[in-house]
Amino acid sequence: MTDSSVSRRSFLTSVSMLAAGSMLTAPAWSFGLKDKKLKVVLVGTGVRGISFWGKRLVEQYPDILEFVGLCDINPGRVAYAKEFMGVTCPTFTNFEQMITQTKPDLVIVTTKDSTHHEFIIKGLQMGCDVLTEKPLTTDERKCQDILDAERNSNKNLIVGFNYRWSPYMTKIKQLLAENSIGKVTSVDFHWYLNTYHGASYFRRWHGLREAGGTLWVHKATHHFDLLNWWLDSDPEEVFAYGALEHYGSNGPFQGDKCRTCPHKEKCDFYWDITEEEHMMKLYVANEEHDGYIRDNCVFRNEINIYDKMSAQIRYANNVVANYSLTTYSPFEGWHIAFNGMNGRLEAWLDIPWMKNENLDQASLHAAEMKQNLEEEVQYEPVIVHKLWNEHQTINVEMERGGHGGGDERLHDKIFKNPEAPDPYKHAAGVRDGAMSILIGIAARNSIESGRPVRIAELTDLQPRANRL
Ligand SMILES: NC(=O)c1ccc[n+]([C@@H]2O[C@H](COP(=O)([O-])OP(=O)(O)OC[C@H]3O[C@@H](n4cnc5c(N)ncnc54)[C@H](O)[C@@H]3O)[C@@H](O)[C@H]2O)c1
Repeated sequence: MTDSSVSRRSFLTSVSMLAAGSMLTAPAWSFGLKDKKLKVVLVGTGVRGISFWGKRLVEQYPDILEFVGLCDINPGRVAYAKEFMGVTCPTFTNFEQMITQTKPDLVIVTTKDSTHHEFIIKGLQMGCDVLTEKPLTTDERKCQDILDAERNSNKNLIVGFNYRWSPYMTKIKQLLAENSIGKVTSVDFHWYLNTYHGASYFRRWHGLREAGGTLWVHKATHHFDLLNWWLDSDPEEVFAYGALEHYGSNGPFQGDKCRTCPHKEKCDFYWDITEEEHMMKLYVANEEHDGYIRDNCVFRNEINIYDKMSAQIRYANNVVANYSLTTYSPFEGWHIAFNGMNGRLEAWLDIPWMKNENLDQASLHAAEMKQNLEEEVQYEPVIVHKLWNEHQTINVEMERGGHGGGDERLHDKIFKNPEAPDPYKHAAGVRDGAMSILIGIAARNSIESGRPVRIAELTDLQPRANRL
């Protein structure tokens, strides 16, 4: 066996195990520096693609992988992506042409959410392994198409759920897996987006339901994936309420875009994109090709997603979860409480008065969005309160940037240490991707129909009380 075939086999096997979400033991081999590099292409050269899945991979794993193609419908953006990432590969505006010409091992999908399915399905059909950003897709029909394509392919599909990988999220998983509060019966889970991060969704394509599936899917897929993973069970039924009350046509005024807005002096949401050179080069300089306005008005009439969301989710193991997502909170943070037969576990991040400190919300948003981990270490508490006992505080060491340290760990698992043991089943595959979006899709359907929606109605996936 040649070095290169060992390298490829090790990657493909690692992908396969990631897809199955079941890597429990360490295989005996790993990527070798002398091996032929993994051939990677990226479709969707926006900020996430070229930073986290682009420049970072180029810089961190030069001996393991090489980019052989970049693709975007926007020819100006894909040209800038090549320069920004510091690669020499060809660029394309046609995905099939890229695959045919470059014959990659792996396709990374970082396009607009509503188009993920096109590249996942084509990538699998054209003989590539596929790694997609969350959300897997935006509706149940596309989800079924992806499930079918994955079953009909001998290739593998993994979903980049980075939140799972942060040490704080992992500690919660560990404490629940160790049965620290007995059998879990209910959960309260509330996520608060501030008026920087929350508003940013309403500036962009995310404000259109047909592009991002609403924040029930685009954003909450992260949260539902965490819930499914923590509870180790599949969702069975969802009932939800939601409304658009703050952004969109509810605003006091509307403008064309922030840059040219006559209301910029009085608008609390005014954002000066011209101060950010990278954003100007990536988006503003390429408006002429597709008309996409990155600093659009958060109060424009076309916004048709919810900004207030609340759901009840019943799991196949009978756990009942209360979930809410707020998009105009004065602070960015979240809080969860698991009620168990033997006690209660509470966890939260960034709720200012819990630490008796004032966090600057603008800097907090900037740190959260950072794609590297040059951060000071900090400690965050998880509370375990067993019945009839004093509560116990467990301090978890973690970073703020890169989604709580999750981003780097996800990359290392996929590209650097695929053979590392995964006792808490962090690795996410197509079923995890599907189950997390199906909760949001069920919530949307529930709001529209006014009735509870069963997960089993949506695709041919049947909920399991215990995930494999
Ligand atoms: N896991 C995370 O924490 C995280 C964070 C940010 C974004 N994301 C995900 O990453 C993806 C990209 O997000 P972004 O913020 O970079 O968005 P973006 O709009 O900046 O970039 C998307 C790119 O896809 C291109 N595109 C759209 N439709 C296309 C098509 N049909 N063919 C080819 N290219 C197409 C656009 O021109 C754009 O360059 C989204 O799916 C988003 O949900 C995940």
